[in-house]
Amino acid sequence: MPDIYLYEGTDVLKNLLGIRDGKLLNEAEADYVTYRLKEIAINPLPGAYDYDHLLQMHKYIFQDLYEWAGQQRKLNIFKEEPVLGGLSIDYSDMFDIPKDSERALREMRNKPWGNMDTHEAALQFSDSLAKIWRIHPFREGNTRTTVTFCCQYADAVGLNPNRNLFEDNAQYVRTALVAYNAVFDDLGDKSKPEYLIRIVEDAISRGNRS
Ligand SMILES: Nc1ncnc2c1ncn2[C@@H]1O[C@H](COP(=O)(O)OP(=O)(O)OP(=O)(O)O)[C@@H](O)[C@H]1O
Ligand SMILES: [Mg+2]
Repeated sequence: MPDIYLYEGTDVLKNLLGIRDGKLLNEAEADYVTYRLKEIAINPLPGAYDYDHLLQMHKYIFQDLYEWAGQQRKLNIFKEEPVLGGLSIDYSDMFDIPKDSERALREMRNKPWGNMDTHEAALQFSDSLAKIWRIHPFREGNTRTTVTFCCQYADAVGLNPNRNLFEDNAQYVRTALVAYNAVFDDLGDKSKPEYLIRIVEDAISRGNRS
């Protein structure tokens, strides 16, 4: 089936800049997103940490690039993961995205963040981050949106994780999210949560917890 998000016959996402070269688009995307992420780090995006807030976060970060910024994807996705021998994470079905998102976000908001030591907070934050990420609500930009959204939430509940650690180790974070979510219908539970927990605990310990 043709991917309506791509320029025909290419693997380049249709974009507001009209760029048809994949490498150029990646570079432009990185520049715009870095700028928007800096803005959000200084001025948090207001909201109730519900599904609508998550959509607004994506819209803000990708507003310069994609017409569909802030809109959930209109197709199912499959991404081959080298660390899973080419298998894909079992991302949410497109029709389940709002329901799955509301559930994962409600669970995060209902955790007793004020009563946890650093280790327990790291376990719980990793679990919520990984569950929200597994939904992958958008055609592109899920990792940056989820990490930014969850870090802003963590600030709001006083965890103040060091965001630079996630940005500076983006490839590790993505692989750690894949490892956390490696649970399959047919192959069973192959998950390895420890990689994500390790960097989250570092980020919380190196932040300035209030
Ligand atoms: N938290 C982050 N802050 C800044 N840049 C990031 C962050 N996470 C990933 N990146 C960068 O964004 C680019 C795209 O990364 P990647 O494709 O893994 O994530 P995504 O596009 O946000 O999510 P996905 O492709 O899973 O929908 C990479 O260059 C990566 O280094
Ligand atoms: Mg991507």
